[in-house]
Amino acid sequence: MRTIRTIPELREHLAEHRRAGRSVGLVPTMGFFHQGHLALMAAARENTDVVVVSLFVNPTQFGPAEDLDAYPRDEARDASLAEGVGVDVLFAPDRAEVYPAGFATSVTVAGITEVLCGDPRRRGAAHFSGVTQVVAKLFNIVGPDVAFFGQKDAQQALVVRRMAADLNFPVRIEVLPTIREADGLAMSSRNSYLSADERQQATALSRGLDAAEAAFVGGERSAEALVRVASEVLDNADIDIEYVELRAVEDLSELRTVDVPGLLAMAARVGRTRLIDNRILETHLPEVGRADTAGTQQNGTRP
Ligand code: PAF
Repeated sequence: MRTIRTIPELREHLAEHRRAGRSVGLVPTMGFFHQGHLALMAAARENTDVVVVSLFVNPTQFGPAEDLDAYPRDEARDASLAEGVGVDVLFAPDRAEVYPAGFATSVTVAGITEVLCGDPRRRGAAHFSGVTQVVAKLFNIVGPDVAFFGQKDAQQALVVRRMAADLNFPVRIEVLPTIREADGLAMSSRNSYLSADERQQATALSRGLDAAEAAFVGGERSAEALVRVASEVLDNADIDIEYVELRAVEDLSELRTVDVPGLLAMAARVGRTRLIDNRILETHLPEVGRADTAGTQQNGTRP
C-alpha cells in the first residue's frame, strides 16, 4: 500500500491505472478505523480494481461546539489496518492541501440537510455542507467509479447521493449495512470516548431500535407510537436524547404512518459523547407475512 499526501501525486498515480482500464473505488474516511470502515474497504476491494481510502479529518464539518482537536487520530494504526484488507492507496493530505489559502467555495444540498442532524436546533445544515464540500473535492481529486459509505450515517449517505446526482458526478454510490458490536452498539470512532459505564448505557440506542422494529413487525404503523417505543428505551437508560424521529427513507419527509419505507433515526448523548443510529422499517415484508398468516388480504382476496 502506498501513502500519498498530495493531489498531483495521487492524480498521476491513478492516471496510470485508468490508462490500463482499471476501475477505482473510494472509501472516504476521517480515520481511526473500526470494523465498519474495514467492511467498506473490503467491499471496495471486491468490487473495484484500485482501492483508494482517504484519511482526512475534515475541519469544515465540525461545529463550534465540537472538538476537532480531540477527534481520535492514529495514522500508523490506520495504515496497517488498511493494508491488511488490501487497500492500494491511503490518501492522507494535510489541511492546506485540501483547503489552500483563499479557498472560498461551498457545496450545499438544500432540504434534506435541514432535518434530523441538520436541524438548526442541533448540528445545523452547515455540518452537511462541510461533508458535501469535502466529498465533492474527493470525487474530483480521485475520480472514483464507485464510492462506499455506511448506513450508520444514513442522512449523510442520502445527502451525498443527492449531491452526486445533482452535480452529475459519474460515480456510483454504494451504501453498506451498519457494522455492530456483539451487543448491538453501532461501530463508530466516537465509541472510543465512552467510559465503561457509558459503553454499557450506549447499548440503549440499538435496543431502542430493536424495540421499535419489534412493534413495527407486530403491526404498529403509527410513527408517533414507534418513536415513543424507541424513546422509552433511551429514557430508561438515562440517556440524553437529541432526537428520535421517523421519516421517509426516500426524501426524509415527515411520516405520520409508516406506509412507505421509513427511517427511524436517533441521536443521543451518552455522557459527553454524541452517538447516532438508525433502522429502516420496510412496510411490505411484514405485511405479506401478516396476509399469509391471515390467509386473506384486507379486501378478502387471497394474496
Ligand atoms: O463519514 C465520515 O467519516 C465523513 O463525514 C466523510 C464522509 C469522510 C467526510 O469527511
